Amino acid sequence: MSQKRIIRIGLLGFGVVGQGVWKNIEKNRQALEFRLGAQLDITQVVVKNASKQREVAVPAECYSTDPSRVVDNPEIDIVCEMMGGTGEALELTRRALKQGKVVVTANKALVCEHGEELFKIAHENGGHYFYEASVAGGIPIIKTIREALVANRFKLIFGILNGTSNYILTRMEREGLSFEETLGDARQLGYVEADEALDLDGIDAAHKAVILAYSGAR
Ligand SMILES: NC(=O)c1ccc[n+]([C@@H]2O[C@H](COP(=O)([O-])OP(=O)(O)OC[C@H]3O[C@@H](n4cnc5c(N)ncnc54)[C@H](OP(=O)(O)O)[C@@H]3O)[C@@H](O)[C@H]2O)c1
Repeated sequence: MSQKRIIRIGLLGFGVVGQGVWKNIEKNRQALEFRLGAQLDITQVVVKNASKQREVAVPAECYSTDPSRVVDNPEIDIVCEMMGGTGEALELTRRALKQGKVVVTANKALVCEHGEELFKIAHENGGHYFYEASVAGGIPIIKTIREALVANRFKLIFGILNGTSNYILTRMEREGLSFEETLGDARQLGYVEADEALDLDGIDAAHKAVILAYSGAR
């Protein structure tokens, strides 16, 4: 009997999104593997501070602060970039794409500011740069715009783009709470970006609007 293919995945970042990916793969493993006809293996998880307490416990041999164990590892097929920011995340994404890997990202700031360059590197090296998770991943909207609605041209896209502001404003309105109180809860729940200005100054919503407009025009 032929051996089932193994798809090896490396996670860059293991915060709210990274641990969510781990939990979702574990929860839905049977269905995912059945549909893919392959086995999923989270081979490496990379973080900044390895001694931080986390909800999910990762086996020691898979856990490090060394991103090269993901991006330069020839065994890894898919790199999930969930670190955030446009500094090290950009360098690591470039490096992985230059090796022909598939990179999946939730990092809207990076897609918005450097997407054009990263799509080009992916194309030239036979890889892919997938960014569905960067905007309203739960819907999902990007694939819908780019594939299901490919013959349509959009004059306007509107909706609630920033979940953190939506959470804060909804609770302030319904419960008469102050901005500071609801912001505190949003922080505790992990809704607020590490760089809070992204959410609170509208930058995150602007990034998402750019990505949606770009996806409709590509
Ligand atoms: N939170 C959301 O609801 C949400 C939704 C959609 C998209 N996003 C996007 O997803 C990305 C991650 O968001 P998040 O909320 O998961 O952030 P987070 O909770 O702050 O997690 C970031 C993770 O990246 C790690 N990291 C940061 N810099 C690193 C470096 N230089 N080397 C290695 N690891 C590094 C951190 O390590 P430590 O844990 O050791 O510090 C942490 O595990 C962001 O781009 C964000 O915009 C977030």
